[in-house]
Amino acid sequence: MALQAASLLPPAFSSITKEGKYNVSVKDSTLFGLSFSDHLKAHFTTSALTCKRGYSKEMGLVRAQQTMETTTPVVMKGTREGKKTLRKGSVIITGASSGLGLATAKSLAETGKWHIIMACRDFLKAERAAKSAGIAKENYTIMHLDLASLESVHQFVDNFRRSGRPLDVLVCNAAVYLPTANQPTFTAEGFELSVGTNHLGHFLLSRLLIEDLKNSDYPSKRLIIVGSITGNTNTLAGNVPPKAYKDSKVCNMLIMQEFHRRYHEETGITFASLYPGCIATTGLFREHIPLFRLLFPPFQRFITKGYVSEHEAGHRLAQVVSEPSLTKSGVYWSWNKNSSSFENRLSQEASDADKARKVWEISEKLVGLA
Ligand SMILES: NC(=O)c1ccc[n+]([C@@H]2O[C@H](COP(=O)([O-])OP(=O)(O)OC[C@H]3O[C@@H](n4cnc5c(N)ncnc54)[C@H](OP(=O)(O)O)[C@@H]3O)[C@@H](O)[C@H]2O)c1
Repeated sequence: MALQAASLLPPAFSSITKEGKYNVSVKDSTLFGLSFSDHLKAHFTTSALTCKRGYSKEMGLVRAQQTMETTTPVVMKGTREGKKTLRKGSVIITGASSGLGLATAKSLAETGKWHIIMACRDFLKAERAAKSAGIAKENYTIMHLDLASLESVHQFVDNFRRSGRPLDVLVCNAAVYLPTANQPTFTAEGFELSVGTNHLGHFLLSRLLIEDLKNSDYPSKRLIIVGSITGNTNTLAGNVPPKAYKDSKVCNMLIMQEFHRRYHEETGITFASLYPGCIATTGLFREHIPLFRLLFPPFQRFITKGYVSEHEAGHRLAQVVSEPSLTKSGVYWSWNKNSSSFENRLSQEASDADKARKVWEISEKLVGLA
């Protein structure tokens, strides 16, 4: 039987204090089959909201490390012959310090057509990763972003705007996965860590940066939220634990579609999600037991044949960032055995428009936007 995200999403999605009390919430909302008000005893208090709204005003607790580029981005450069050449695209990739994010940054940098803003929580790790991947210095900037802190998200957006760079594509890629945890851990604001990081941090980031995307003069502006087969309950992987991670991925895919419904027509921005394949070797599985980490890659490679290398997965996400053929909005991309992209079908749950609207409205309140 399919695991119902209903049974875990609410605890994961609500602000649970470290003492175990529900703190922030949502009045009268039914989500994933459960009523927040009934099941969470949630009280969306004015003080909780005020607290959330205060983040942007109370900068300074988290100091962002930032490298400012000295070069000013060029918009459409006129050549001597009078022809116009396209400036480099400017793309923010969250979690670009390892795995899929790093491989995507490398793939885009190699084209020479993109400047990558690596939005990472560990500056030194990101710098080492960029160097070891051979990404040329002029093709990337590292900026601090901790998605497990809403204040850090606000700080990142401020820092990015101060850099003067345009924003053409935003890739929400970072994630945590805590498959063996038997106790929840929490973000700075007290949200369960997987949903708080993978969904709420990205939701706030995307909502704030949509203005910057709107202002981009790049021919194709995109907002990409990395999804997963595990958030899709029409698959086998969508029916096994851990639920908090899967709930966060359901939220990622629902929110991408809600962005599409709310903004695509008005702004022309392409909204997309994707499942890049099973990249069984990435750091995502770092919290898993050693035996799993040993057996999972060969299992995926030889038994399920769902395995893709980090290099190939990075190439796939880079296509969603830059390929002119992948501009359709509201799509969940996947790749077939021949590595050709196709529009995949989302499960009923991950494509439920009513649920998407509710997740949007609840998330707005939780991150202090409503
Ligand atoms: N691996 C797979 O098989 C697979 C399959 C489908 C989808 N995905 C998706 O692919 C994306 C990337 O995962 P991956 O496999 O490449 O895993 P990964 O190597 O562990 O990369 C995750 C990235 O997220 C960053 N991150 C974690 N918490 C963060 C926070 N609070 N603030 C900022 N950054 C944070 C990590 O930073 P640090 O380097 O500092 O830890 C890391 O750079 C995820 O969205 C995942 O759901 C992966």
